Amino acid sequence: MLTDKELIDIAWKAREQAYAPYSEFQVGAALLAENGQVFPGCNVENISYGLTNCAERVAIGAAVASGNRKFEKVVVVADTKEPISPCGACRQVLAEFGVKSIILANREGAVIFSLEELLPRASTGILDRP
Ligand code: THU
Repeated sequence: MLTDKELIDIAWKAREQAYAPYSEFQVGAALLAENGQVFPGCNVENISYGLTNCAERVAIGAAVASGNRKFEKVVVVADTKEPISPCGACRQVLAEFGVKSIILANREGAVIFSLEELLPRASTGILDRP
């Protein structure tokens, strides 16, 4: 199993592939599946803006497309003053697959959150009518 440091390095490498001509804000991700496989991701923007895909969602899509649905952790990296914070949509997508640990890093260091910390009550009550 890869170390957090190794995953962070993979995310920085993935960030180099970011397609971000509109925001010029490059993001990288690395998603660790339960079986030890790693899926890199980068943001992929679109001229419509609204169709932009974030790095962590791209990693989830690649992982699911190759048959993975169980994940240990995801790393998200960007060159920011404070470690990057995933958007609400990505938090919901991470919740869909129960990604246990979310590591957010900049050049200075990393912070680690649980899914519950970033998105409390993500699925509680949904479709659970009395
Ligand atoms: N972005 C990500 O890829 N991940 C995040 O966690 C936050 C934001 C991307 C989306 C867009 O391409 C750019 O960063 C600016 O928001």
